Amino acid sequence: MIKSVRRFLSASGKGMKRSAIREILKVLQKPGMISFAGGLPAPETFPVADLRDIVIEVLDKSGAEALQYGTTEGDAGLRNALVERHNKQGLHIGIDNLIITSGSQQALDLIARIFIDPGDYVLCGLPSYLGGLNAFTAYSVKLKGISLDSNGMKPDELEKAIIHLKESGRNIKFIYLIPDFQNPAGITLPESRRIKIMEIAEKYDLLIVEDSPYREIRFSGEQQRMMYELDTTGRVITLCTFSKILSPGFRVGWVIGHPDILDKIAMAKQTADLCTSSFAQKIIALYIEKGLLEKNLKKTIALYSERRDFMIKCFRNYMPENVSWTEPEGGLFLFVTLPPHLDTDDVLRKAIERNVAFVSGSSFFCNDSGRNTMRINFSYSNPAEIEEGVKRLSAVIREELTGK
Ligand SMILES: Cc1ncc(COP(=O)(O)O)c(C=O)c1O
Repeated sequence: MIKSVRRFLSASGKGMKRSAIREILKVLQKPGMISFAGGLPAPETFPVADLRDIVIEVLDKSGAEALQYGTTEGDAGLRNALVERHNKQGLHIGIDNLIITSGSQQALDLIARIFIDPGDYVLCGLPSYLGGLNAFTAYSVKLKGISLDSNGMKPDELEKAIIHLKESGRNIKFIYLIPDFQNPAGITLPESRRIKIMEIAEKYDLLIVEDSPYREIRFSGEQQRMMYELDTTGRVITLCTFSKILSPGFRVGWVIGHPDILDKIAMAKQTADLCTSSFAQKIIALYIEKGLLEKNLKKTIALYSERRDFMIKCFRNYMPENVSWTEPEGGLFLFVTLPPHLDTDDVLRKAIERNVAFVSGSSFFCNDSGRNTMRINFSYSNPAEIEEGVKRLSAVIREELTGK
């Protein structure tokens, strides 16, 4: 048996840390645990019966193709269906503007792989999706965090940071944004701010990575146009996924962008996994063709909207004063801020003892701030669990506040 694998590891391998979220997911197996931690869809939204019929139909109609390797860019039927769907929603794209990936997480990795040289800078929100930040740092990127206000990333601070980095000779590659119902903050960038950020990207010749898994899960307010739709210069790369609108088990997502960028992403994908599951793509394509995606999505939105409302009601009923939270118009998360002297890692340890879990906000801040914040998922738990979980969590926070 070898004594240690460490001496075999690359610098990147040595630098890899376990994700705080994955670590928490392990304790969630504890009996009686109520989890507000993962970004898990509600299992009630999975259309098992419809998919059973569709799987049989796919095998009957095109079994050989479904069980074969496919093209790296993805199944033509699915790509065409997605192009048509986006164009109905206001985009003007062709099949060359869209490729399939094995979830958005793969797209984040491939984007980092084709754009990042060690030491390059990426600008991201404070806070921002941890899985994105980890995908970038695996390629030795430097992250510069930009604060958010109630309308998302602050353009003034973004421009100042760009000027400062450029003046000190740094190479910036892209701005990483989650414009709709941001993970973890739940905030949506209004269109006016999307335009401002786009203007900044143009002025300093940067790319924009628009990560958009939650866009279609809107409960209230007005849909804002995608950054991709507002872009006239081909600098926006948009990541979408079926994970939150159908099922994460398929591991199917897609990227929209400039054909030359997609060509490079496809080359990188070839060495990553050759192609995304042909079987999964054919099932989804038929599911869309039958009009079932829109139907199921409506039900999902209604369910999550109810759960968000109920979670907020419970927060209002049970949380101590000076705890604040975002009230998002969509997505899966509330972002909660405790008084600055509290550390949510301490709260989490005690919460887990009481069988309730969340993710500490500091995991999402690339500058190690946000220690008094937490991300709360409202999609996964049923109302009884939401109420009991919020009660338990409020009791822990109250104890931390009073020092008992
Ligand atoms: C902002 C963001 N990007 C990407 C992903 C990864 O999604 P996928 O399941 O498509 O890999 C997630 C998952 O929660 C996410 O929140």
